Amino acid sequence: MRPLLFLASFGLALSTSLNASEPISVDLKVRLNQPAKAISSNLFGIFYEDLNYAADGGLYAELVQNRSFEYSALEQPDWNALSFWEVSLEGDGQATLIVDGGRPIHQNNPKYGVFKVEDPGGKAAIRNRGFNGISIDKGESYNLSLFARQLYKGNRWSPDTLDEKPLGLLARLLNSEGETIAEAPLPESGNEWSKLETTLVAKKSAIAGQLEIIATEAGGIALDMISLFPNDTYQGHRNGLRKDLAQTIADTKPQFMRFPGGCLVHGNGIGNFYNWKHTIGPIEERRGQPNLWGYHQTGGLGYFEYFQFCEDMGAIPIPVVAAAVSCQNSGHTAGSGQSCIQLEELDLYIEDILDLIEWANGPADSTWGSKRAAAGHPEPFGLKFLGVGNEDKITPEFEERFTLIYDAIKNAHPEIVVIGTVGPSPDGTDYEEGWRISNKLDLEIVDEHYYQSPDWFWQNLERYDSYDRSKATVYLGEYAAHDQGRKLTLRAALAEAAYMTSLERNGDIVGMASYAPLLAKLGNTQWNPDLIYFDNQTVYPTISYEVQKLFGQSQGDEYIHSDYTGIHQRFTASTVRNSQTAQLYTKLVNGSENPIKLAIDFDTAAKFTTDATITTLTGNPLAENTFENPNSVQTHSKKASIIQNHLDINMPPYSLLVVTVNGRPAKNFSN
Ligand code: AHR
Repeated sequence: MRPLLFLASFGLALSTSLNASEPISVDLKVRLNQPAKAISSNLFGIFYEDLNYAADGGLYAELVQNRSFEYSALEQPDWNALSFWEVSLEGDGQATLIVDGGRPIHQNNPKYGVFKVEDPGGKAAIRNRGFNGISIDKGESYNLSLFARQLYKGNRWSPDTLDEKPLGLLARLLNSEGETIAEAPLPESGNEWSKLETTLVAKKSAIAGQLEIIATEAGGIALDMISLFPNDTYQGHRNGLRKDLAQTIADTKPQFMRFPGGCLVHGNGIGNFYNWKHTIGPIEERRGQPNLWGYHQTGGLGYFEYFQFCEDMGAIPIPVVAAAVSCQNSGHTAGSGQSCIQLEELDLYIEDILDLIEWANGPADSTWGSKRAAAGHPEPFGLKFLGVGNEDKITPEFEERFTLIYDAIKNAHPEIVVIGTVGPSPDGTDYEEGWRISNKLDLEIVDEHYYQSPDWFWQNLERYDSYDRSKATVYLGEYAAHDQGRKLTLRAALAEAAYMTSLERNGDIVGMASYAPLLAKLGNTQWNPDLIYFDNQTVYPTISYEVQKLFGQSQGDEYIHSDYTGIHQRFTASTVRNSQTAQLYTKLVNGSENPIKLAIDFDTAAKFTTDATITTLTGNPLAENTFENPNSVQTHSKKASIIQNHLDINMPPYSLLVVTVNGRPAKNFSN
């Protein structure tokens, strides 16, 4: 049965005018004695895009910025290959750092630094200040690695001959005052590129530390891929993820992760597509490129690391590839910037997509599966879903290319579910045309996107009730309530929560949903609001994050019908059950200024007493959790007893409550 909310939406309950603090009485009947509706068990997950420094300087735990001397003015006008590096001299020290490209480690990584030391003097060193400083924790170990090649013989620069005494290197971590807080020598290198490694153990902490590489002799040395990672990464992986940030994401219990974008995928013109092949293998062989959002993307956090992160979180991996057309806003054109791969070149492009499937799922002795195995994962990753396109402008060129790509994938891999795309809005031409193509090709899933006001979300709780169940299911790949000034308010978060109850109710047609965007580094944002903010030391989850976490941690695969009376327009509820654990979750959202006296009846026929936990998120509707005030709205949990199926709750104004009922047998809940 559909909740009586619809009656309210059509004006019934609106006829009552209420004073602000006057409580409203609501009777909610959770129909446990009626058959439940099967819904998606993968409803809530995450959408990760490398936007707002989400990867380099963010989730990717690398601490050195511009580690391979590939930054360029294409990314930011005042950047060059030496950005974020400087030479530090003391006493008689004489040295320079220049950029060269004659004999790189790999063609994908064409530039490197050349450190020429005429006199090591008091000190001749190069320094890197990381991403707004390097954050260092006392007692922690940091793994430094770099590639080096000796260059200097006597006074002649030569790549092929060594000086009798090769230039030696010493590594240090410095705190903000320039004090040495860790030090270790590096092994000697030869006249071919070799990887040098050492561990630095910090004696003190630093907020804005630096890495220093000191020359102990005069000479010349080529340096590249100078990399510093904390030893303590998420799940302890090398080339890993920042632990606190990855854990904050994992705490939402995402059922899936879509990556790596967003607009990032189809790029700023076809030359700027995200090319997954450039992001696998040894990091010194990956090819960085300008990120569409205006910074450098190393590819160090690449496809292997994304799939591994999914596996660590128990999330289904959903990579997205471009539909052979670029972002419609390429070149800041506001909708007219779509360019396309020529049809003659499409086969090559399609081959890359098929290679991706083999890389993820193929046996360890297949061409691409062997590269996955060489990276340490002989078992297949179990790729099932592949997004093709991202809210593209639905032009004839798009349709032709999408269809060819779709047919090629389905011919070669009928087991892969291709996710189509229906534009950047909840309606309009791209939406309609996208759905037309979906219906024509009989797609299984399409990706909808919309960023709207909190009111829009409250007013559209019925959106999916009328969707045709015989057509594609929906992946709501990007959504967020944008309040005035794009603030991170409780009001916006509650509108999202209300909408998520409607997604649960429609979990038979909405298969997946993810808030967007996920991550943002303070001071480096290109898009607001985002779900999780962070700086180098601290993670600042927003109130919307608390909502995502509450829903993520209480997902079910059965929707329990309910109805309610005495309601008004800003109340909504949903109940789901997890058939594996038998846990029952009732979500209640009050988006109004009135408290609600809620009487929940779990079933008229059932008689039981059981324990429940009520988790509440409430506060001032305009409150925000920001770095200045990270805890202005927090969740609180308390125990409750459901006595003879009945639970009375006083819901505060502007609140989300999740009632968790433990341990009833899934099939005989009402007996
Ligand atoms: O989530 C931020 C951006 O919003 C995504 O890159 C794009 O898909 C959408 O327009």
